[in-house]
Amino acid sequence: MNNRPYRVLRYGNDSTATLYLKDCIAGFGDDVREGSVDVVVTSPPYNIGVGYNSYHDSMPREKYLAWIEDVGVAVKRALADDGSFFLNIGNRPKDQWIAWDVASVMRKHFALQNVITWVKSIAIGKADAGNYPGIAGDIAVGHFKPVASERFLNDCYEYIFHFTKHGDAKLDKLAVGIPYQDKSNIGRWKKAKQDRRDRGNTWFIPYETIQSRKDRPHPATFPVKLPEMCIMLHGHARLVADPFTGIGSTALAAKRLGISFVGFEIDKSYLDEAIDRLLLIS
Ligand SMILES: C[S@@+](CC[C@H](N)C(=O)[O-])C[C@H]1O[C@@H](n2cnc3c(N)ncnc32)[C@H](O)[C@@H]1O
Repeated sequence: MNNRPYRVLRYGNDSTATLYLKDCIAGFGDDVREGSVDVVVTSPPYNIGVGYNSYHDSMPREKYLAWIEDVGVAVKRALADDGSFFLNIGNRPKDQWIAWDVASVMRKHFALQNVITWVKSIAIGKADAGNYPGIAGDIAVGHFKPVASERFLNDCYEYIFHFTKHGDAKLDKLAVGIPYQDKSNIGRWKKAKQDRRDRGNTWFIPYETIQSRKDRPHPATFPVKLPEMCIMLHGHARLVADPFTGIGSTALAAKRLGISFVGFEIDKSYLDEAIDRLLLIS
């Protein structure tokens, strides 16, 4: 087994991004020290027939769940005792159980500390918003892939399951907090000493707008802001990992935050794209 990284990028602040062209289960066993990872943010293949370059995204459900369980076991071994494992997964209109089936498998190994709904698109009518300052009319924001069906609604959200070893990982909620709408709350509540409150467990994070297909080198990415918010919510991270690196969105978030990263990916062209993206951001 090849234990040499495909590429190690070093940053000014002594942090590194170590990228392996390798299966993640083997890699987490061979190359990641037990208990060394503070935060894992990842999105696995959903087993819905996505056209990846190398990976075939279609297995019998039982086989898929057994495999994803092995990934969970490998992640648990690498995770620090107070670490966070953020697992992003969605469903598809015809199969609304995928995410929950995966969560059930992880239940054998982790506590489910939070369930965050990643909202990709939302419509808010002015009448429902009421007299909020700054909302002058109806709002429809974000991106989604329209579903051509009379049975199913457009799919506008996915889950981010926040697994921890014991369900008691202390979080830095205000690091991803939002300003109070009503400023009179500052000081009124014992904990409200600054103009920031817990944003709650629905996160609106739109995809970056893509101009053409050539700007889309991977069919199933999440926006960099998603892992960035997860890492900030966990707080105090020294090492972030992603077993399914893709084109490196979690690696980019770690770099932006000045934290070291270790990641695995089986497709060379995705990993090359991840490296290009990492070299582009300062
Ligand atoms: C949903 S994508 C992750 C995309 C990533 N979050 C991003 O934003 O770029 C899943 C990735 O897992 C990779 N993959 C599939 N099986 C793998 C394995 N056994 N080990 C490592 N990577 C794997 C696929 O090639 C694919 O790029």
